[in-house]
Amino acid sequence: MTEIRVLTDEAQFRTHNGVFRRAMHWGPPTDEQWEVTKPSYEPGRVHAAFDGDEMVGTTQTFGSSLVVPGGTVVPHAAVSRVGVRADYTRRGVLTALMREQLSTLPDPVATLRASEGRIYGRFGYGLAGRVRLVEIDARKAVVPGDMTGRVRMLDQDTADKLLPELHNAIGLTRPGHIGRWAGWWARARDRKSDAENSVTVVHTGPDGDDGFLTYVVKTEGEFKHRLSIHDLVAATPEAWRDLWLYASRLDLVDHIECEVPLDEPVTWLFEDPRVVYTKDVFDEIWLRLVDVPRMLAARTYGHADPVVIEVRDKLLPANDGRYRVTPDGVERTDDAADLTVPVDLLGACYFGDTTFSQLAATGWLTGNRLDAADALFASARAPYCGTFF
Ligand SMILES: CC(C)(COP(=O)(O)OP(=O)(O)OC[C@H]1O[C@@H](n2cnc3c(N)ncnc32)[C@H](O)[C@@H]1OP(=O)(O)O)[C@@H](O)C(=O)NCCC(=O)NCCS
Repeated sequence: MTEIRVLTDEAQFRTHNGVFRRAMHWGPPTDEQWEVTKPSYEPGRVHAAFDGDEMVGTTQTFGSSLVVPGGTVVPHAAVSRVGVRADYTRRGVLTALMREQLSTLPDPVATLRASEGRIYGRFGYGLAGRVRLVEIDARKAVVPGDMTGRVRMLDQDTADKLLPELHNAIGLTRPGHIGRWAGWWARARDRKSDAENSVTVVHTGPDGDDGFLTYVVKTEGEFKHRLSIHDLVAATPEAWRDLWLYASRLDLVDHIECEVPLDEPVTWLFEDPRVVYTKDVFDEIWLRLVDVPRMLAARTYGHADPVVIEVRDKLLPANDGRYRVTPDGVERTDDAADLTVPVDLLGACYFGDTTFSQLAATGWLTGNRLDAADALFASARAPYCGTFF
């Protein structure tokens, strides 16, 4: 019989990390790895499944924030370290963990990155945001004009201190962006110091520092290199443009690769748009609306006639009910529903990346007035997180 407990002390946290890592086939953390990982364990946010005294399953959340369409920032749980010991899988351990985690979350919304696409829908998570992996032929990437600001290269210690402050100062600007927690920066620092040739540059505009770029360059052949962008954060279009200019004009670089939002304008930066090639599109944000009324009220809506949506939520039945969605907001209603949507698919449509019409066309939901529902949930900007956890 599995029992779910909330963990509180460091020794348990380390065991938790070992169980998770083993589920991912990584082996236990070394002392050095544990030192880096430890700050990401927040007491009260760590769950484990036990069989007697043995820990057999794990999950935890990082306290964060999330931008929703319209720009409001809500408290957000970043769910991570989901793992079940291989000799305990397919016996309901994850189901028990998810049930407990969701019913005790202090935040109205949770997101995660999924190792496999079939795991989380049953727990109410929907695929809400995707990213594009682009490759740029840097030798042919010509950008007319010059930088409007300046970039400067930082040493590692300065970057470690400055980047969290700069990220905070720039703020969260796009639906899907999340706040980064102290433990996230500790892991990022560690990854950077592990990486060969990791470089950070900061951009300065008319009002001071307003963007940064972190990248790694690897050899592809004699005098040939591939630049992988790990982080590109910019407060203004000018900072964004200058940072791409810097990357595309680096000597001895043949290829640049970067994960970007689906609506990323980088293609249009270069004289020849074909220098930007989409290598892949894959899922990024899996979204769980934990408090549906609060999350529906948090975002803004497009222009269309009102639609009544009936929401079904097996794990959190307080969300069940009908909601009238209008351009001016959302309220609960007893009116007949235009369409019925399980909570995972409402999550998938929440940022506007997936539409109700697409889901109806493929048979996942039924209802009427799909065009109006699509127009209400449409968002001017594609969702993008850009913070891996
Ligand atoms: C994914 C994982 C956590 C699932 O744990 P689990 O305890 O086996 O899950 P449960 O027994 O509660 O399964 C619940 C349901 O999900 C299904 N399911 C679970 N994992 C699945 C997977 N990887 N693919 C497809 N279905 C899966 C089960 O078949 C079960 O379906 P059912 O209710 O219809 O029988 C576990 O397999 C694991 O640790 N995998 C390796 C690490 C990993 O990928 N972690 C996720 C990181 S994002």
